[in-house]
Amino acid sequence: MPTTDRITLATLRAYKRERRKIVMLTAYDYHTARLEQEAGVDSILVGDSVAQVVLGRDSTLHATMDLMVTLAGAVRRGAPMVYLVGDMPFLSYQVTTAEAIRNAGRFMTDGGCDAVKIECDRSMSAVVTALRQASIPVMVHLGLRPQAIHQLGAYRSQARDAVSAMRLIEDARILEDAGAMALLIEAVPPEPARLIAESTTIPVIGCGAGPWCDGHVVVVNDMLGLAPGPLPRFVPKHADLGDAIRAAAAQYANDIRGGAYPAEQHCYAMEPGEACKLPPYLDAGPRTL
Ligand code: KIV
Repeated sequence: MPTTDRITLATLRAYKRERRKIVMLTAYDYHTARLEQEAGVDSILVGDSVAQVVLGRDSTLHATMDLMVTLAGAVRRGAPMVYLVGDMPFLSYQVTTAEAIRNAGRFMTDGGCDAVKIECDRSMSAVVTALRQASIPVMVHLGLRPQAIHQLGAYRSQARDAVSAMRLIEDARILEDAGAMALLIEAVPPEPARLIAESTTIPVIGCGAGPWCDGHVVVVNDMLGLAPGPLPRFVPKHADLGDAIRAAAAQYANDIRGGAYPAEQHCYAMEPGEACKLPPYLDAGPRTL
């Protein structure tokens, strides 16, 4: 059911307390956001994944502040009631704390966001605290951090051994203490994700982190079957829009080439008695369709 009340941080916290799952999905445009809100999605992430799934780049590093803030504004206009999170792009929060606050502020004022998301571990807890002190709610993205792809070498699951899992669990606690309002954990086995969800008071959103998180998020284009595979194993495919778009475009091309389009119903009519006042057609074809 679509929400009739605006979803706030208090709503998400209450969902966690009540063990009601938080439904989060990405969106990058007005109409997709509108449909997601109508479908009852609680929270929308304007993800820097837009660089890959919309711009066709090979990583998320190519999202820019101007792009992200513009898209956040469009998404907010389409979905005024959801909890809207803007994904801070690469180098918009890592250089200085002052820059992080200024850029995060743009998501809130120009983009209409309720919160921002940053990818970090404990080494950047000062930025989390600074954003919190500036009254900007911040979601921390842990586990697989796509902006670190050149350091990681490949997109692969994280925290699969007990030592790295314990480090992740500690990171989660440290970043909660630093002021994170929520966590997003990507590509992590269910066991550490469960321990994090159980040991924190803030909402924990999983993205390929098993069933025990407080909520879940995926990239909408992947879920809709718009991206060619292979997709991460955690992506549920609930539609085949890729096939639907290909079939519709092929039908359109056929109709144009075969003369079936445009037909009479696609044309504007001249006022009665006006067409015959025009010069004859060169090929002497019929006056009317
Ligand atoms: O940018 C993005 O879409 C993300 C995913 C984890 C949902 O961060």
